[in-house]
Amino acid sequence: MLVFQTKNELKSFLTTINSNAIKVGMVPTMGALHQGHASLVERSLSENALTIVSIFVNPTQFNNQDDLLKYPKTLEKDSSLLNSISKDIIIFAPSVSEMYTEQVASKKYDFQGLDMVMEGAFREGHFDGVGTIVESLLLTVAPDKAYFGEKDFQQLQIIKKLVALQNIPVEIIGCPILREPNGLAMSSRNERLSKQLRKEAGFIYETLKKISAKFPDHSPLSIIEWATEQFQLHPYLRLEYLQIAEEDTLKPIENKKKDKKYRAFIAVFADGVRLIDNIGLN
Ligand code: PAJ
Repeated sequence: MLVFQTKNELKSFLTTINSNAIKVGMVPTMGALHQGHASLVERSLSENALTIVSIFVNPTQFNNQDDLLKYPKTLEKDSSLLNSISKDIIIFAPSVSEMYTEQVASKKYDFQGLDMVMEGAFREGHFDGVGTIVESLLLTVAPDKAYFGEKDFQQLQIIKKLVALQNIPVEIIGCPILREPNGLAMSSRNERLSKQLRKEAGFIYETLKKISAKFPDHSPLSIIEWATEQFQLHPYLRLEYLQIAEEDTLKPIENKKKDKKYRAFIAVFADGVRLIDNIGLN
């Protein structure tokens, strides 16, 4: 398995193998890989001749320094997981100074409101940080397709907007959410939960499924009120936001329109660990 740490080494490798002539897939990650990441990698392997997985904990997308410091760095374990999937995967694991040569700062983007709600409203500057690093990674690798999880649905929509705004010639592929047996969306952060809390956190998906079941016959407002109360009654989980929004614009739903797709989005704190999830409603 090949591991590159600099853009130049990776770029010259891509030139030597003439990556223009073959399909290249890319999976950007921050490491601490789990089966959710693996599903993206497998999808890329099935659709491309070459798959590049980037592993980079991007400082500019963390608005909370503590969260950045606590983010697990497990490159060796990640490499063996990838190696067990396929020996042909290329890893790109740059340092912070490699990706941010002048200063560790974000570019500013106009994501046309997609970044003003939910994660963007609660994590200031987060999506400018995501946009900055994803743009830089896509320009370095120039893949044909890049794979992102619906687990971070807002991020997926923003990246689609990013490549349109910046004219980056890549197809962005959204992939379904992988879950633990109790329904909890897989996340590197789940490792920080106690065994009991990890079990309790299955409640998040349970509630999302109930929201989805109620959606055809109840008003969005009454559903949100009902679900908020469920979390108020829960002894361990604290709701940060719960929103039903249009899939394409991410605007909070007002009146249901026939031709629109809707999704419920949630962020919950479990003993200081922030968990997000979402579900399609129609
Ligand atoms: P990270 O949280 O490591 O996630 C990398 C990719 O894996 C993202 O596209 C994310 O949506 C996807 N993913 C995570 N958990 C998943 C699950 N349970 N099921 C399916 N897909 C899942 O997202 C980031 O990193 C960063 O913001 C990044 C895009 C790499 C930019 O730094």
